[in-house]
Amino acid sequence: MTYLRLEGKVALVTGASRGIGRAIASAYAQEGANLICTARSEDKLNETVETIRELGGSAFAVKADITAAKEVQKLFEFTAERFGGLDILVVNAGMSSGYQSVESGDPEVWRQTIETNLFGAYSCIKEAIPLLKARGAGKIITLGSGLGHNGRPGGSAYACSKAALWMLTQVVAQELTEHNISVNELVPGPVETGMLSDEFRKNVVEKEHEWLKTPEEVCELALFLATQPDNGPSAQSFSLMRRAR
Ligand SMILES: NC(=O)c1ccc[n+]([C@@H]2O[C@H](COP(=O)([O-])OP(=O)(O)OC[C@H]3O[C@@H](n4cnc5c(N)ncnc54)[C@H](OP(=O)(O)O)[C@@H]3O)[C@@H](O)[C@H]2O)c1
Repeated sequence: MTYLRLEGKVALVTGASRGIGRAIASAYAQEGANLICTARSEDKLNETVETIRELGGSAFAVKADITAAKEVQKLFEFTAERFGGLDILVVNAGMSSGYQSVESGDPEVWRQTIETNLFGAYSCIKEAIPLLKARGAGKIITLGSGLGHNGRPGGSAYACSKAALWMLTQVVAQELTEHNISVNELVPGPVETGMLSDEFRKNVVEKEHEWLKTPEEVCELALFLATQPDNGPSAQSFSLMRRAR
């Protein structure tokens, strides 16, 4: 008999229409979880769900923009109605702000980056908490970045959004300890997705000998975090990077 690590669990992955989110959603489904996959691009989201179903997994697509509070509310209402609760939330949806110095950068890009990477994450976590409590235990995994710990010239918006997300991770972890809900950050390091710019590849991956990985190579750590005991690690950052950050 095959033992599935997430049998019977309900997991919601934001940004599941491509990249790391799609890979984590598929990996969780292959381990027996029921998936709610969300993002803005309906076609790409449906592709994720079809692939999961073809492999025998269970998945639903719910289109939502995480910067729109009403859409986030509806997403979690669907989850509550369909499953009565939630076991795992992966706060993965995010955007890059590209390379712009503070002096010459576009303030609108700054605002949009914070709106997506921080406020969008906050809205999803806020709506998920009652559903995680309803199951008596749970996991929240936020997708962080080395830039959120150390910054980098030209990356102020992204770095600030991820630094604040890391702080949010630690604060929510402390608020939820007594409810058996663990909240941890996963820092994937450079991953071969549409988000990785040529500039980052040249300046960081090649010069600093970073591990450039596939989205699938992030999944084992995402599974590790989703399968820790109820009283396991919380308020921690887990990184797949090769250098001290
Ligand atoms: N790739 C890397 O090297 C790397 C390194 C460190 C951390 N990360 C983090 O890992 C996470 C995933 O990144 P990725 O590389 O997989 O990027 P990606 O391929 O660009 O995917 C981003 C995902 O976020 C979704 N998304 C963006 N804005 C959204 C919004 N307003 N509402 C709902 N969904 C939204 C996108 O879907 P739609 O466009 O369909 O909405 C997409 O599914 C991000 O948080 C990123 O910061 C990535």
